[in-house]
Amino acid sequence: MLKPSLTGLLLLSTAALLAACGEPEDTRPGQPVKQRQQAFKEIIKSFEPMGVMLRKGSYEADRFLAFAEKLHAARELPWRHFGADTNYPPTKAKAELWQQPQQFEADKQAFLQASDALLAAAQSKDKARIQPAYDAVHESCKACHDRFKAR
Ligand code: HEC
Repeated sequence: MLKPSLTGLLLLSTAALLAACGEPEDTRPGQPVKQRQQAFKEIIKSFEPMGVMLRKGSYEADRFLAFAEKLHAARELPWRHFGADTNYPPTKAKAELWQQPQQFEADKQAFLQASDALLAAAQSKDKARIQPAYDAVHESCKACHDRFKAR
């Protein structure tokens, strides 16, 4: 038997190795973990450019609206891949996600509402509405990640 401290060390070095050689492959049928990670990548691909525009002061109403529409279209993609028994490597979801399904659902609903409001703000082309609406979506991603996503 290994001493607990040594086991911890071994686990750590395994994690370091995995990080060094890239993620383990998702080998399950249908690849639910990979699918939801790709879905989140679609979300960030539309969300990130909006943040860049706002930070750089390069807001263009039509471009911004196009990204807000893209985000809105992508926002439903990840959730159906969080089925029961999909907590396995290479997931970055914390165990808490499967222990607190109601909180996860509440965080998801908050994100859906915030992305509705962002789309409405983008359609208004009223920049004073857009920054707070963008920030609210950002907060909704962060709230869920803080609770349910490992770094
Ligand atoms: C309701 C919870 C929740 C919300 C809201 C949420 N995420 Fe996530 N996100 C997760 C979880 C859980 C994972 C980890 C999935 C996995 O690895 O199984 C994740 C993973 C990711 C990843 C990593 C994908 C990868 O390949 O590892 C990115 C990027 C991401 N989210 C971006 C965002 C952005 C941007 C938003 C908001 C616009 C957002 N997420 C909103 C829960 C959420």
